[in-house]
Amino acid sequence: MKKITVIGTGYVGLVTGACLADIGHQVICVDIDKKKIEKLKKGIIPIYEPGLEEIVDKNFKSGNLQFTTDTKSAVEASEVIFIAVGTPSLPDGTVNLDYVKSAAEDIAKAMNGYKVIVDKSTVPVGTGDVVGRTISQYYSGDFDVVSNPEFLKEGDAVKDFVNPDRIVIGSDSKKAEEIMLSVYEKLGGERVLTSVKNAEMIKYASNAYLATSISFINSVANICEKVGANVDEVARGMRMDKRIGPYAFLAAGVGYGGSCFPKDVKGMIQTANENGVSFEILDAVESVNEAQKKSLLPKIQKLLGEGLYNKKIAIWGLAFKPETDDVRESPALAIIKQLYDRDVKVTAFDPIAAENMKKEVSNLETTNDMYEAIKDADCLVITTAWKMFKEADLDKVKSLLKSPNIVDGRNLFDLKKMKEMGFNYLSVGR
Ligand SMILES: NC(=O)c1ccc[n+]([C@@H]2O[C@H](COP(=O)([O-])OP(=O)(O)OC[C@H]3O[C@@H](n4cnc5c(N)ncnc54)[C@H](O)[C@@H]3O)[C@@H](O)[C@H]2O)c1
Repeated sequence: MKKITVIGTGYVGLVTGACLADIGHQVICVDIDKKKIEKLKKGIIPIYEPGLEEIVDKNFKSGNLQFTTDTKSAVEASEVIFIAVGTPSLPDGTVNLDYVKSAAEDIAKAMNGYKVIVDKSTVPVGTGDVVGRTISQYYSGDFDVVSNPEFLKEGDAVKDFVNPDRIVIGSDSKKAEEIMLSVYEKLGGERVLTSVKNAEMIKYASNAYLATSISFINSVANICEKVGANVDEVARGMRMDKRIGPYAFLAAGVGYGGSCFPKDVKGMIQTANENGVSFEILDAVESVNEAQKKSLLPKIQKLLGEGLYNKKIAIWGLAFKPETDDVRESPALAIIKQLYDRDVKVTAFDPIAAENMKKEVSNLETTNDMYEAIKDADCLVITTAWKMFKEADLDKVKSLLKSPNIVDGRNLFDLKKMKEMGFNYLSVGR
């Protein structure tokens, strides 16, 4: 059992803290957001993540998991300190490391003996050195900085954390490496024991590669639409090549979003630029994705005509992906903006993310029921692959819509069936 502090109680920090407590460690989760910590102490989970509430509740009650805003007392009581704060993009695309630096400073001021400081936030290569230097400014004793990037996916975060494909431990100290191995000894998955810089680069390169696969298949999808091929069949055939693989991230759709891929692609481009390396592929990945996020509008216009003034359009899905309430960089936001610019009446439904989207688009009309959103709509637009949409009663959908028009940005339905049912159905790359 290790005594652990996790600084930052967001999607990654809260999942990390709860899961580490669940495998027997003594964990203190810290956040500067007082309201968040008060809620957590009352058993209210500030984010939606399947399975998280149960383990937070169980471990909070057993005393394995505590919440506080007091970094000093948490750090003093712990041997391993995870930094899991946000690393958003600045307007110029560079990574904002202010939260990481400030967390490192808070840790340094509370140091009272040897500790392992772990960068779990996604940070550009070289940040381990920055954290080390920050701590040395305030603390002259022994410590180690480790890079332990997180690969969980929102919506599957708990499952991914406890069943990882791999756990990457970047450490330039044997002592810290041993401590990290014992933190994770109860979890499966491969161990990648490597240097701090390699670990930092593994995370960025992985996300940049995954984003590249999405933009790649979306470009293939755009050709498929012109030549009458079906991108889903093409991806299925591609995955049978062992060099590509059955899990290759070849999901054509309305583009990637979320809090990671967009900023991590930008961060990787920035690192390349700073080091005089051109990474043109990633410039293209970004521009393809921006275009893809706007690709549903021409499809809507194909069905409803060029001028959309006063049309009513229903949107199913506001989260950037299913099983999360996260709307950061959600493709739904792009299409809503395009429709508002054309004076379209938009009614949206999402089972979890409506409140978060209303913080971005305050006047957005949302419904509590997915069928209510489509009543008398001229077209239904699908932007998130929620299971409940895939399982929708299509007869009911048809009877509620003013005209049977669907633009599906997530390829949820079978083309033949939709045609037989009399829908005017446009999807991506099919
Ligand atoms: N969200 C994901 O799916 C995911 C997956 C893998 C890696 N990551 C990376 O993990 C990091 C965190 O992402 P997130 O989505 O959990 O962020 P988040 O925005 O959900 O949470 C960050 C939290 O850190 C807190 N915080 C900021 N500064 C602090 C400080 N000095 N002391 C204490 N708390 C502080 C904030 O109040 C916030 O609650 C990022 O670097 C991200 O790129 C995220």
